[in-house]
Order: sequence, then structure tokens, then C-alpha cells
Amino acid sequence: MTRPPRTPVRPLPRPRSSDAEPIAVYVHWPYCARICPYCDFNVVRDRGQSDQQAMLAGAILADLQGHRSLTGPRRLVSVYLGGGTPSLLPPEWAEAIVGMAKNLWPTESSVEVTLEANPTDAEAGRFAAFADAGVNRLSLGLQALDDEALRFLGRNHTVKEGVRAAMIGRAAFPRLSLDLIYARPGQTTWAWAAELESATALGAEHISPYQLTLEAGTAFDRAVRRGQWAPPDPDVAAAMFGVTQEVLTRRGFDAYEVSNHARGEDARSRHNLAYWRGLDYVGVGPGAHGRLTLNGARTAVRAAAKPADYIQEVRESELGWSEREVLSRRQAAEERLLMGLRTVEGVALSELEPLGLDGRHAKIAELSEAGLLRLGDGRLFATPEGRLVLDRLTLELSTGG
Ligand SMILES: C[S@@+](CC[C@H](N)C(=O)[O-])C[C@H]1O[C@@H](n2cnc3c(N)ncnc32)[C@H](O)[C@@H]1O
Ligand code: SF4
Repeated sequence: MTRPPRTPVRPLPRPRSSDAEPIAVYVHWPYCARICPYCDFNVVRDRGQSDQQAMLAGAILADLQGHRSLTGPRRLVSVYLGGGTPSLLPPEWAEAIVGMAKNLWPTESSVEVTLEANPTDAEAGRFAAFADAGVNRLSLGLQALDDEALRFLGRNHTVKEGVRAAMIGRAAFPRLSLDLIYARPGQTTWAWAAELESATALGAEHISPYQLTLEAGTAFDRAVRRGQWAPPDPDVAAAMFGVTQEVLTRRGFDAYEVSNHARGEDARSRHNLAYWRGLDYVGVGPGAHGRLTLNGARTAVRAAAKPADYIQEVRESELGWSEREVLSRRQAAEERLLMGLRTVEGVALSELEPLGLDGRHAKIAELSEAGLLRLGDGRLFATPEGRLVLDRLTLELSTGG
């Protein structure tokens, strides 16, 4: 396997205290063995572009270093290898990337290191090597426990392989999360309940069931427009959401976010919590987003989407950014509202001052009266009903309308 070009590692002073501001790191690896017909993530078909992939791994290492010069010392809370399919990364490259992040932003506590993986036998065969590389949490894209559904979803694995990957993952990593896609055409509420029950028996501490979304420009979107198939009726999809809550609650998984369920607080995704709590996060790799507090201002950044452009950006500026926007206090507060209301943790009212929202605001009273919001301990929460209509809530709260 080609090694990524080595980037000189400058020794950095350790943070003076363990209470340095927290930071999370997202790494985007865009290559996939095949492109699934529902997916609109920033992905590239893996055609064995080994030179480009080696350059990209090197650029990711350099981009991390470029970010460190901007952020200064921080306390690393999470590294998330996402994609695309980062389980296609050579484990030694994953080790170099994780090691670099830990070296740049040292921390005294244990860091959550997640790997997104597709459950093919080939990938599961390398889980132990990923665990040796520092990964301690596996997010497995199981998607379905039904072979016909997996074929429909264009997946390159069977149920048998998926279950085997979950077993191997459970043995290799301390923490396992499963992704599932429901509200597939023809799927009944009963069949979904049975499938979800089976998934809860695979030993995962975390389950993310996503309702199938028709993303513009995907093959599924085109097929539905051509009338080849139709998604389930919204009432059926809503009933499936209800079944999801019922089955997972009964099996001990708390809905701590709209599509995320965990067996206890320690099983929650610390990485996603970093987004939802409004912490700073570095995004490296093609198309990755980041949020950084720079010179006291919340700054939204986005890396160049195409691997070749990203590599070029890093070469020229030591950062992969193609877009950078300093958010106004109002924009930052709107983002805090949207993110905070997604989880059971809610959002501190003090963070919503730029929107003119306080505990006595008429809109908050009205939406609380309607059973969609709740106030407590200086925080604003969406109720489970409110979390289903978050777009409406955040729009009404931020415009007062
Ligand atoms: C970055 S993706 C996939 C990670 C990995 N490559 C895989 O396919 O297993 C993260 C998750 O988003 C979900 N997802 C992606 N597109 C979706 C869509 N259109 N509708 C519902 N869920 C979707 C899938 O469950 C997927 O596992
Ligand atoms: S769902 Fe996963 S494997 Fe499929 S194209 Fe998207 S990122 Fe790649």
C-alpha cells in the first residue's frame, strides 16, 4: 500500500491546563465502492485512484496542521472518520490521521474516535486493524435487515454480511452504532417493527434510524419523478416513526435526538453532541464543513468539494477551505437554536439573546402552550412533538412570526 506523503510534524507546546476549549475533528474520506441511489453526500466512486488517494491523505494531514495554527491549543473531544466510506482507508492512514489530531490538540481524557463503515466482509476483516489504529467506536451502515431491501437500496452487502460485520465490530470496538433506513416503498409498519427489533439484538449501544429521504439529483429522485415507484404515504411514514420510538424505548434506547437513540448517556455520540452543543469543530477532507471561533467570531468554513481542488487548496494555503464566512451574532444564535432544539439537552437562553428571546417572550409562551416547547433551568427545550416540527419552531422563534 502506498504511504501518504509525509508532512513535517512540528512539535507543539501542550495546553497549559486541561480546561482548554474543546474541539472536535471531522475527516471526510469521499471514496465509495459504489454510489448508492439515495445518497447525496460528497462522494466519489473508488476506481483505485491510488496516487490521488495518497495525495489526499497527505493533504488531510497538512490541513489538520494548518488548522492547529489558527485554533491554538484546544482539548480534543472527538475525531470522526466519515464519508464516503472511510472504512476503505488503509488502517495505517487512519492511524496517521487520528495520531496527528491527537498530537495537535492533546487531551488528558479519552477521545471518542469513530469510523463509519460499510458492512462488507472485506471491510469487516480489517476492523481489528482499525481498532489498533485508535478507533474506539464503529458506526456501521447496516441500512436494512432484508436482502430485497438491500438490493433496492443498491447496497453491496447482504443481511448475512451485515450481521457478521456487526458481530465482528462489537468484538473489535468498545462502542457500536447502527444506521438503518426505513419508510422504504412497500415496507409495512409491522415489518419495520420486526426489523428494528432484530437490529436491537445485535449488541449496539446506539441506533440511528433514518427515514428514507428523496434527495434532489439522486437516482432515486429521478426514478420517483419518472413514476417508477412511490415513497410511502406520509401517514404511513409517520406511523413508522411512532413505531421506531416505541420499539427503541422498550429496548432501552433513549431518543436523545430526532434520529439518534442511545442506551444511556455514555452511549450518546460525543461527536454529534459537539455539533448540537455549538462547540468548535475542524472539518478536513473534500467538502468538509467546520465551525471555528476565530478572533472571537463564529466562523463557518467549507473545504473544496473535489479531491483534486482540495489537494490544490491545501498546497497553496495549508488549509483546504474554499469558503469562509464570519457569522453575525444573530446568525450564530439562529444556528444555536436550530442545533440545540434537536436534542434533549436543549439550548441555554443566554445563547439566544441576539434573537431577542428570553424566558418571557410571547412566542415561547405560545409554542409552550401548544406543547411544542418547554422552559427549565434557563434553557429552552423542544418537546418530542416539537422536535418533529423543528423547522417551523426555529423559523417562528427567529422571526417572531
Ligand atoms: C455518510 S452516510 C453513509 C456511511 C457509509 N458509507 C454507509 O453507506 O454505510 C451516513 C448515513 O446516512 C444515511 N443516509 C444517507 N442518505 C440517506 C437518505 N437519502 N435517506 C435516509 N438516510 C440516508 C444512511 O443511513 C447512512 O448510513
Ligand atoms: S450511502 Fe455510504 S456507501 Fe452509499 S454512496 Fe453514500 S456514502 Fe457511499
